[in-house]
Amino acid sequence: MSVQNITIIGLQWGDEGKGKIVDALSGDCRYVVRFCGGANAGHTVIVGTEKYALHLIPSGILRSGVRNVIGNGVAFDPEVADEEIKGLRSRGVEIGDENLAISAASNVVMPWHKLADRLNEAKLGAGKIGTTARGIGPLYSDKATRTLAVRAGDLLDTDVLAEKVARIAEVKNTVFSALYGHTEPIDAEAVTGKYLDYGKRLGGMITDTGAVLRRAIEAGERICFEGGQGSMLDIDHGTFPFVTSSSVTACGVPSGAGVPPKAVGCVVGIVKAYTSRVGAGPFPTEQDNEIGDCLREQGHEYGTTTGRPRRCGWFDAVAVRYAADLSGVDELALMLLDVLSGFERLRICTGYRVNGVDLGVFDSVAAVMDRVECVYEDMPGWEEDITSAKKFSDLPANARAYVERISALVGRDVGLISVGPERGQTIPHETQLKGTGAGN
Ligand code: IMP
Repeated sequence: MSVQNITIIGLQWGDEGKGKIVDALSGDCRYVVRFCGGANAGHTVIVGTEKYALHLIPSGILRSGVRNVIGNGVAFDPEVADEEIKGLRSRGVEIGDENLAISAASNVVMPWHKLADRLNEAKLGAGKIGTTARGIGPLYSDKATRTLAVRAGDLLDTDVLAEKVARIAEVKNTVFSALYGHTEPIDAEAVTGKYLDYGKRLGGMITDTGAVLRRAIEAGERICFEGGQGSMLDIDHGTFPFVTSSSVTACGVPSGAGVPPKAVGCVVGIVKAYTSRVGAGPFPTEQDNEIGDCLREQGHEYGTTTGRPRRCGWFDAVAVRYAADLSGVDELALMLLDVLSGFERLRICTGYRVNGVDLGVFDSVAAVMDRVECVYEDMPGWEEDITSAKKFSDLPANARAYVERISALVGRDVGLISVGPERGQTIPHETQLKGTGAGN
């Protein structure tokens, strides 16, 4: 196969199983790059009997020969990175500046961002977003404000960091006290010392990652861009305001990684065979009943980052089509198909109505999405355990029909089908990625 980069994008509300596909595809990639989000992500990779839950470190870290990059668009939390690196090293994963690079231009999640996230959510009460409390929204707000931002490169310069922390702490103390009645002041000196220590430990990895990636493109080395969250949580195109604060579609790759738009390559859209969502906000196909409970239990739908039970519901072809069009998806990877074994009837949402009138397309305005009524198409389920299926023809006829219907409704080939969490439980189907780890 000629060199073509791969971009992995979640097409629902996150937790689609991106980590497994990145791990599978990264076997043939030189780089795996995170370009959005931060420690709010939870990517699970299972290798043999070992399960790894990654939040900030790209999912290529478990493959030797892969360079992992935390791009400039990431909300970089050195505390989480440091912990994650320690945890991985203690399990025998080698991590150093030869296989992990952190963008000097990535913005640093500081203690006040996490505090602001919690205080803000508490203040919103019933209207809260249901964030992961990782400081993501406040971090990106400060990035946009510019004068309140700390970048990873600043962790390497004592004078610059001390000046920034002292100045920003003063602003935050005033704001927290006035807005939230939070009067415990930030200890600027202690924060500076702690973050300079992170700088010392991670310093060798902090570099101009955009330049590294542009050189790699010139040299014809394959890159896998690892999306975080899901398209419906995108700051611009998701169910605003119940979204995260970064650009999580393929449109976010160029600016979040520092590469030209053409570098996006083949876009693989990751979808679950059903839908889940964590936190508040519209979810048209939600099943707040025993069907949802059953999907949650069979799919182990509890947050990797927060442990929160996920809301579950039927596959929403309207929302997925919208997300696939937005990212220019070339093919789908259909995940967790095995979770649907045992359902007598499966439903796919094929349209929305508001007050009896066809909406036609997905509308990212949360207030509209809250009011839609779903139009469903029913399909017969299957009883068989499909976790050991190796090829498409091993699947029961009803499972094959379900996959084909999703493909037709979303207007994309289903390249890969996942029938279990392990590396071997991936069925190559109509993939363009023949010759890569997942498409053999
Ligand atoms: P934040 O990104 O922590 O600000 O959270 C905003 C919304 O996005 C909340 O509904 C979170 O539950 C959701 N969210 C953020 N990251 C993820 C993820 O990786 N998977 C699923 N939901 C997420």
